[in-house]
Formats: sequence, structure tokens, C-alpha cells
Amino acid sequence: MFLYLLLGILSIYQAADATPRTRNGLGTIALEEAWQFPELAYLAENYAPPVGQTTEDLSNNLVDIQGHRLQLMDEYGIDYMILSWTSPGPQGYSNQTEAEAMATKANDYLYEQIQNNTARFGGFAALSMHDPVQAAAELNRTVTEYGFVGALLNDYQESGPDNGTLLFYDQPEYDVFWQMATDLDVPIYMHPRLPVTQEIDLLWQGRKWLLTAPWQFANDLSSHVLGIATNGVFDRFPSLRMIVGHNGERIPSDFWRADHMLERQKLLGMPMNSTIVGYLKKNIWITTSGEFYNDILRYHINQLGADRILFSVDYPYETVEEASRWFARFPFADDDEKYLISRGNAISIMKLDLR
Ligand SMILES: *[C@@H]1O[C@H](CO)[C@@H](O)[C@H](O)[C@H]1NC(C)=O
Ligand SMILES: *[C@@H]1O[C@H](CO)[C@@H](O)[C@H](O)[C@H]1NC(C)=O
Ligand SMILES: *[C@@H]1O[C@H](CO)[C@@H](O)[C@H](O)[C@H]1NC(C)=O
Ligand SMILES: *[C@@H]1O[C@H](CO)[C@@H](O)[C@H](O)[C@H]1NC(C)=O
Ligand SMILES: *[C@@H]1O[C@H](CO)[C@@H](O)[C@H](O)[C@H]1NC(C)=O
Repeated sequence: MFLYLLLGILSIYQAADATPRTRNGLGTIALEEAWQFPELAYLAENYAPPVGQTTEDLSNNLVDIQGHRLQLMDEYGIDYMILSWTSPGPQGYSNQTEAEAMATKANDYLYEQIQNNTARFGGFAALSMHDPVQAAAELNRTVTEYGFVGALLNDYQESGPDNGTLLFYDQPEYDVFWQMATDLDVPIYMHPRLPVTQEIDLLWQGRKWLLTAPWQFANDLSSHVLGIATNGVFDRFPSLRMIVGHNGERIPSDFWRADHMLERQKLLGMPMNSTIVGYLKKNIWITTSGEFYNDILRYHINQLGADRILFSVDYPYETVEEASRWFARFPFADDDEKYLISRGNAISIMKLDLR
């Protein structure tokens, strides 16, 4: 009898420990969470599934929204997920007509999929970035008509007949897009992508293990985000809000050296007016997606502040279980710190109708 009681208490303790609930039992909000069209589920073969899972599990989990995903959310205390079409999304279509059609199709599909459960799911728009004017219009449409809370872009837009023309949003022609994001007052999530074959041949051929999340994702995306900063986009659009996953793709852990050396580039005419750390504290928010390690999160809180960090999983490339169990045991300094990172920052940045 006593043993059963003890086991019962232990299992309640364990369950509580695995669900990172904050104030008044409120759950987390997660925002780097991917979905895929059933007919494109085979593309999961480009990625290594979480340990213990097969490629088929990964593709099933990408396609599923209202089944297993929702069960995991309930079990591990994720109240709300903001979904995005998985990488590379429209950025993987060199043909502009196709990229634009696929982005619209993805946005329509996502809207349909989550319409009946707006209490649990929100959406980031997928956008073709071939034409910044068209991207701005589609952002406007999806935010205004579908209630999407922003957009998620998968690093550079490939283009050209051989996919080898790469479009980066740090160039002046993209100002019209950043203008729309600030006019609509929605954040833009910068997410990584697999490189085009030319980049793989030049950089990664002899070290293909580094492709995707181990290194290449952060390597490529951090350069793009720093391009946006150094070309003065945040100076021209001071209210622009950008979210960068994986703890900021390593930018916050090397800002001192970047700023130290960029000071010299200012003398050579670089248009950037502030510092990288200045943008990290004003325009950029980071998420915990795919990086579940106490000392690293503590470093980022100390450097940037708890008001700039948001919980995320990176489902289904990472598991809800691992992310949530880790997060539940993280030694938060206090209740406010936990609340902000769990959900408070997401609510204010994306103006979610939650508390
Ligand atoms: C782009 O795709 C459209 C629709 O599939 C096709 O009609 C067009 O020829 C393609 N353009 C190029 C340059 O390949
Ligand atoms: C929403 O629709 C999906 C797909 O038809 C279904 O599986 C799910 O149960 C529905 N959810 C709600 C809350 O009605
Ligand atoms: C360009 O991308 C398309 C679609 O992913 C692919 O079929 C084609 O082989 C690529 N071309 C080159 C030169 O990599
Ligand atoms: C968004 O589109 C609507 C309808 O086309 C338009 O009236 C509105 O001005 C646009 N919003 C912005 C911020 O440009
Ligand atoms: C950046 O600083 C320069 C020099 O002070 C100034 O002329 C320019 O207007 C500033 N640009 C922005 C976008 O603030």
C-alpha cells in the first residue's frame, strides 16, 4: 500500500516535472514548429530524424497537425504552437512562378488546417522572396485575412536557371518588404535552409556531416542576418522585429569580436549605425529551438535579458519530450524569468490573444 502511494506520488512528481508550466499552470508557447504537405513528405529523407525515430516517423510527424502533435502538446504542456511550412519552403523554388504559387498554396493549406483550432495553433506565412513587392503583398494578405502572426523565411531565396543565383534580403530592393513587416507590425522569423548544390560543392563536399543543423545552418543564416544588420536595415526600420532560432544562430556568443572589428568597417563606409549587440537588444529575439543546455541558455539570458528569449522546440526535427523535459528543469532565476521565456515574450511580440 505504502509502496503504491509512493509510486503514485513519484509519477505525479515526474509528470509535473516534464511539463514546464508557469504561472497559474499556464503552458508554453512554441514557434519554430514545422509542417509539410503529405505529397512532399518524402523530402524528410534529406534530414536525420531524432535518435530512435525513422525517416518515416519524421515525415509522418511533419504531415500530422491535429493528431500525435496535439497529444504531445497536451502531454508536455505546450498550450500554443505557431506552425510554419518546413524548410526550405518557397526559398527552395528557383522558378518564381512556382515559388509564389507554392507559398500561396502553403498559406491557404495552413489556414485550413488550423482554422478549427485557433486556441492551440497559429501560423507564420511562407513567402516567395523572388519579388519583394509580391512578398510584401502576400505577407499583408496572410496577416490581414488569415490572422497569421508574421512570416518565416528559410534563409536565401534560390533563383536562376541553375538555382545558383542567391537572393539575400539585406539589399536595398528588399526595403519594400521590411517596410511592410513594420507597417503590419509583425515579426519575421529567419530560419535556416539546406544549401543549393553549388554551395555544397564549394564548401561542404568533403565534410557533408556538417550540413544542416550540426553547423551549416547556423553558418549560413548568421551571415545573412549579419548582412541585414551591417547593411543598415535595422537603422532604416528601427521598429523591425526579427526572430532568430537556435539561440540566435551563434551571433550572441560572438558579438564582441564582430562589434570590435565592425567598428573599423564603419570608417570604411559601412552603413550600419549601431552595434550587433545593440540590435540583439532592440530588434532581434532568439528562441531555444534545438538547443537544450542550461549554461548556454543562462549565458544568453545574462547577455541579452530574459525579455528577448522565447521557448521553442524545432518539432519534429527535435522531440517535444526532450525540449520540454529540459525546459521544465531549467533553473530559472524567478517566476518572471520563467513566464517571459515560456510564453510572455511570445504573447507580446506576436500580440497573441492569450495571457
Ligand atoms: C516556371 O514555372 C512555370 C509553371 O510551372 C512554367 O510555365 C515556366 O515555364 C517556368 N519558367 C522557367 C523560366 O522555367
Ligand atoms: C480539426 O480538423 C482536423 C482535421 O479534419 C481534425 O482531425 C480535428 O479533430 C479538428 N479539430 C477540432 C478541434 O475540431
Ligand atoms: C535546381 O533545382 C531543381 C529543383 O530542386 C533540381 O531538379 C535541379 O536539379 C537543380 N539544378 C541544379 C543545377 O542543381
Ligand atoms: C494591405 O492590403 C490592404 C488591402 O489590399 C490595403 O488596404 C492595406 O493598405 C495594406 N496594408 C499595408 C500595411 O500596406
Ligand atoms: C546613420 O548615421 C549617419 C551619420 O551619422 C547618418 O547620416 C544617417 O542618416 C544614419 N542612418 C540612419 C538610417 O539612421
